Amino acid sequence: MEIRRKKVMIEQHLYNGDSAEVLKELKDNSVDMLATDPPYGIEFMGKSWDKVLPPTDIWKECYRVLKPGSFIAVMSSPRSDVLYRMIKDLEDAGFDMSFSPILWTYHTGFPKASDTSKMIDKRFGAEREVVGEINDGRTKDNRGFKKEYVGDDGSGTQQFTKITEPSTDLAKKYEGSKLGFQPKPAVEHIIIGMKPHGSKSYIDNVLNFEALPDNIKMTYPFIQVPKPAKKEKMLGTDKTIHPTIKPVKLMSYIITLFTREGDWVIDPFLGSGTTGIASKLLNRNFIGVEREKEYFDICEERLSVDRDELIKFFKDKK
Ligand SMILES: C[S@@+](CC[C@H](N)C(=O)[O-])C[C@H]1O[C@@H](n2cnc3c(N)ncnc32)[C@H](O)[C@@H]1O
Repeated sequence: MEIRRKKVMIEQHLYNGDSAEVLKELKDNSVDMLATDPPYGIEFMGKSWDKVLPPTDIWKECYRVLKPGSFIAVMSSPRSDVLYRMIKDLEDAGFDMSFSPILWTYHTGFPKASDTSKMIDKRFGAEREVVGEINDGRTKDNRGFKKEYVGDDGSGTQQFTKITEPSTDLAKKYEGSKLGFQPKPAVEHIIIGMKPHGSKSYIDNVLNFEALPDNIKMTYPFIQVPKPAKKEKMLGTDKTIHPTIKPVKLMSYIITLFTREGDWVIDPFLGSGTTGIASKLLNRNFIGVEREKEYFDICEERLSVDRDELIKFFKDKK
């Protein structure tokens, strides 16, 4: 049997502003789902917008605009302190948090442990002798971001890491030891919650589980999607400056789980617009808010890509 879906004309509303203010303009009980990747409050890569977790007032506004029975999917670092605070803030805003998370696995990450010997020499202001260099197979682009492949667009300069000898006696003693327990992260949590339901039933909401592709159903609640490649990040734009850009496929799976065609999705921390692209692909109406102008400009560019072009791009990527 062939199921024919009716063609839905969708709307996308993008706001360059602070969600604490912008959300106040939106109607009560008007949105079907919140899908977002908020600041984690860990000052990732020194970014000022990541200094603190979102204020509970923003989550309260999200609660107000969502329809009863709507789901929220909020990304979080797997760090216990971040996860705990994020869930607590969402609960304080009124959401029912009695759901299991989804786990996004991406198999790569930043190694975090510090080199004890180097830290000791630094503390004592002792200069270390450079005895060589290794090429870690990566390049830095002109803005200083590491790129995965050497010279893939010709604009990068090759990245070398200096090999140094310990200087102080204490540093010699601790050569080779790593400080702290910070293994390479390979997952991020997607916290699931719900605005307690009234008219729309829980069953109504979960029916769309069927729409996930078979390979994703097999691993659920683990969703395996690699971090986005440069080509995907640069769809519709020549800028790749957002440091925490998420894969469109990941956001598509999350939106598929909790909405239907023609529903309204909101992302109050839009970054470079990924949730909006996924919504467009899936024929969902979308509201997105981004405070930083430089990121908002990227959103506008990425979200101006025609839906047919998006469908072709993501089909070709399979
Ligand atoms: C983790 S990033 C989102 C990245 C996004 N998932 C993507 O794929 O590009 C969070 C974003 O929230 C924005 N932000 C932080 N606080 C905000 C606020 N109060 N209102 C609107 N945007 C905010 C930051 O500027 C940042 O771009």
